[in-house]
Amino acid sequence: MLVSMLGCGVVGLGVYNIIKESEDFKIANVLVRPVEKDVVPETVFNIDDIVSDNSEVVLECMGGVDFAYMCAEKCIGAGKSFITSNKALVAAKGLELSRLAEEKGVSFLFSAACGGAIPVLHNISVARETDRILNCGGILNGTTNFILSSLREGKFVSYKEALDEAKKLGYAEADPTADVSGMDTMRKVILLSAVAFGKLPVDGYSVEGIENIDLCPYKYKRDEYTVKLIGRAKHNEDGSVTAYVEPAIFKTNSTFGSVNSNFNMAFYTGENSGRISIFGQGAGRVPTASAMMRDLTEILRTVKGSRSVMISESCEGVSVMNEAEKHNYILAFKGEKPEFTEPVSVAFMHSRVKKERESGRECFFAAFYENAEV
Ligand code: HSE
Repeated sequence: MLVSMLGCGVVGLGVYNIIKESEDFKIANVLVRPVEKDVVPETVFNIDDIVSDNSEVVLECMGGVDFAYMCAEKCIGAGKSFITSNKALVAAKGLELSRLAEEKGVSFLFSAACGGAIPVLHNISVARETDRILNCGGILNGTTNFILSSLREGKFVSYKEALDEAKKLGYAEADPTADVSGMDTMRKVILLSAVAFGKLPVDGYSVEGIENIDLCPYKYKRDEYTVKLIGRAKHNEDGSVTAYVEPAIFKTNSTFGSVNSNFNMAFYTGENSGRISIFGQGAGRVPTASAMMRDLTEILRTVKGSRSVMISESCEGVSVMNEAEKHNYILAFKGEKPEFTEPVSVAFMHSRVKKERESGRECFFAAFYENAEV
């Protein structure tokens, strides 16, 4: 099968090298930015060279939304199946691209956009056909998990040093703000919700990252407890969706507490299957490239004339409702003793902290899971 690629950076070069070793796939063209010169012999600088080539599938790993969307529209419009690792693209334009792929009768897959190597989107997209998915989420960002576990183990003295190492290892985004602010995890939660419930959150979600981890009391970040960044989506009985990202404190020996380094642990609960957890490398060149290759293999195996989709035809954009989901929180203001809240809603907590920060107070908060798992 002839394929073309958009982007040849951290993930792209990983995909390129795997395809070069494969007997099933050949590379036609690889689009890179003109400043990157001839990265590989198949380099082209104009998307139209790929639109008009004979490739059946295009793999995108450039990142960004606007240019990637223009390229995706052109490639799918030309009747090519499209595989992407770009969560920002799918979170912003997934519905439009899925509909275009449906119209053109081609596949649109994005396994690598959530959970790195782990097959959580793939599994959910199969499970939802015969089961009702009730909730999903997990530790979905390798960079922040690497930072949090390295700091806990004392491998780095500062948050900044740990972040620099995560960048060197190819875990972090080009602009790591998306990782540490929680937005990268939120985009993954948006994709999970779209695939699992057929509901793509467009607004109303709550996002808190790990930028204020230094304010977390020592006892809760280094001792019997550990902090993790958790993303979660829930399909409520009334059809609404709960979706949020926030730090959470677990016992160090709990399931989530034991997930270290760049590893991710995703879960979903099906009405029939019960809870399923999937653990594996959530970031990095080769693990992420392996997920794109999984999608490519799926297209290779797709019976001629049929297509493989992750976002179903009936998927719709929704506003998130975070009022009903409640947790006990630990809230730490700079220089003050931490406060433990009664159970309060995710919406309330995130909005309280926003107001406190607007009034100039620095703080850290995390949901507190004394015994339970998320
Ligand atoms: N920056 C992302 C992460 C890459 O750290 O998880 C994989 O999506």
